[in-house]
Amino acid sequence: MDRRPIGVFDSGLGGLTVIREIKKVLPGEDIVYFGDTARLPYGNKSKETVTRFSKENVRFLLKFKVKLIVVACNTASSVSLPALARLFDVPVIGVIRPGVERALEVSDGSAVGVIGTRATISSDAYKRLLKRRIPEVKIISKPCPLFVPLVEEGWLDNNITLRIVSEYLGDLKKAGVKTLILGCTHYPLLKSAINKFMGKGVRLVDSAHETARTVKRVLKESSLLSDRTKSRSHRYFVTDEPANFKKVGEMFLGTRIGFIKKVNI
Ligand code: DGL
Repeated sequence: MDRRPIGVFDSGLGGLTVIREIKKVLPGEDIVYFGDTARLPYGNKSKETVTRFSKENVRFLLKFKVKLIVVACNTASSVSLPALARLFDVPVIGVIRPGVERALEVSDGSAVGVIGTRATISSDAYKRLLKRRIPEVKIISKPCPLFVPLVEEGWLDNNITLRIVSEYLGDLKKAGVKTLILGCTHYPLLKSAINKFMGKGVRLVDSAHETARTVKRVLKESSLLSDRTKSRSHRYFVTDEPANFKKVGEMFLGTRIGFIKKVNI
């Protein structure tokens, strides 16, 4: 039994997709969320820069005596996870493996699409893991860098968003992709627009739910679960002005964000 909070970080709002799922499967856990909004996007930065930011984010979260860290950012998970796991004593969980596990569960053997930031796609993190599990699988990857600013702006389903979705995903649709991994924590917020374009038969894989299940399993195995049935605090920290984060975040979470603070790290 352990009442210390779980620490979660992302470059911005996207990690809230993981928070939403953690709240569902672990309602008794306290959470400290860190959104590095001042340095976003991570997705077009180098591995060295993203790793440096990620280490700083973890050090910030450790000040709250967190018992586990969730890297709720595909870019950081793709390029920095081994470094973080080596450096810190607490368990560190990323979002790539859970996403791949989920894709393998729902896939019918046809082509798998992977979309993400430039850094995630060029790291080949998804491709390598998928190929290791199913060597013959056909994978079509595509970076979709404009999706992140659309989400941060709260443009989740308007005409411009739909136009950009069709521009990016046209090739994947043509290639007959039936399982599409949303390899960026921001993209589940665009599910409705992506669904409209790809059509109902295409399964959208969002790693958030699977990541939350992994967190629960790891806490349980390490006897770190809280004994509370209702959490006491969810605190949000961001590195730039919190107004837009709060507005879009509340819309997405469907609950009020009670505690939010701008910090310098
Ligand atoms: N959080 C990033 C990811 O999941 C997307 C936003 C960014 O580029 O910083 O890849």
